[in-house]
Amino acid sequence: MAVEMGSGHPVIVTESLTKVFGKRTVVDRIDLSVSPGEVFGFLGPNGAGKTTTIRMLTTVIPPTSGNAWVNGHSIREDPLSVRKSFAVIPQGHVIELHLDVYQNIRLYLMFHGYSAKEAARRTDEAIERFGLHSLRHHRADQLSGGQIRRVQVARALFVEKPILFLDEPTTGLDPLVKKETWERIRQIRDSGTTIFLTTQSMEEAEALCTSVALIFNGKIVVQKSVEELKRLVGVTRVEIGVRELPGEEIPFVLGDWRGLPGVLAASMNASTLTAVVEGSEPPVAAMIAAVYRHGGSITAVNIERPTLEQVYLRIIKGEWKEVK
Ligand SMILES: Nc1ncnc2c1ncn2[C@@H]1O[C@H](COP(=O)(O)OP(=O)(O)OP(=O)(O)O)[C@@H](O)[C@H]1O
Ligand SMILES: [Mg+2]
Repeated sequence: MAVEMGSGHPVIVTESLTKVFGKRTVVDRIDLSVSPGEVFGFLGPNGAGKTTTIRMLTTVIPPTSGNAWVNGHSIREDPLSVRKSFAVIPQGHVIELHLDVYQNIRLYLMFHGYSAKEAARRTDEAIERFGLHSLRHHRADQLSGGQIRRVQVARALFVEKPILFLDEPTTGLDPLVKKETWERIRQIRDSGTTIFLTTQSMEEAEALCTSVALIFNGKIVVQKSVEELKRLVGVTRVEIGVRELPGEEIPFVLGDWRGLPGVLAASMNASTLTAVVEGSEPPVAAMIAAVYRHGGSITAVNIERPTLEQVYLRIIKGEWKEVK
């Protein structure tokens, strides 16, 4: 079943969802909305409240106030139906230490409702895909931290449910397994599953996410599609190599550039003109035209578009605030 991104009712909704531990409000009245088929990145610094939110959404801990609906079911009123709607990779290592790798995966799949036969088939596939063959009869208590994580990731990615919660799934995985995990996450997304992902890796968020929310000190700072966020918060750097541009014309070219929409700064160094432009769509054609107009020609054009990392850092450092 393929689900068009952004269509239909949201699959996860939170309404003023709040968690207080003792006197500390760790998740503070958050409102989130995740559409079907999205890979939703829930990003924020250490201690921001991401895992606490996932634990509430997966009914491990109850909210202090507010509510959330997962696949249409309230986490307060119908936690059993919520639990049937998702698979999860939690942040901590949860695994049966006295069982071997094969048994751990197969039991987990049976626990999630697969028949013994189907669970065995999926276990074989998970073992194959995640390079666990040589470890299949090793007891979990003999595995390294990264190997345990690999088992956890492999088994959860072979459960098909409407929603998949992933709390820093690739932390501790080696680069090859990390790429395999990304591949599998994309495959799951393409089959229509909605994915709620936390990660500290902006590379991972960039590779997978269609929209993101930023949480900071328990509060949502922004929630938008990745495209929109780059357009609103991002900064693009344009470098244009020039030749035959008469020295006295340089200030005029720079002046023309500074008058173009979104241009924040413009400068010339050796034979390269550089501009820093708001958003992700710089007026490159007009910039090139200005060079020709003043007698120069172009040797190279280099455009560095905004990344999610740049956008994230700008927001966290307070260099951008949403105007409401
Ligand atoms: N059971 C608990 N009792 C008291 N405080 C808690 C409990 N669980 C979490 N906290 C506190 O809540 C805050 C948010 O923790 P949480 O695990 O949600 O952060 P996080 O955003 O997932 O961070 P990280 O990126 O480090 O995983 C932290 O300050 C943490 O110390
Ligand atoms: Mg966490």
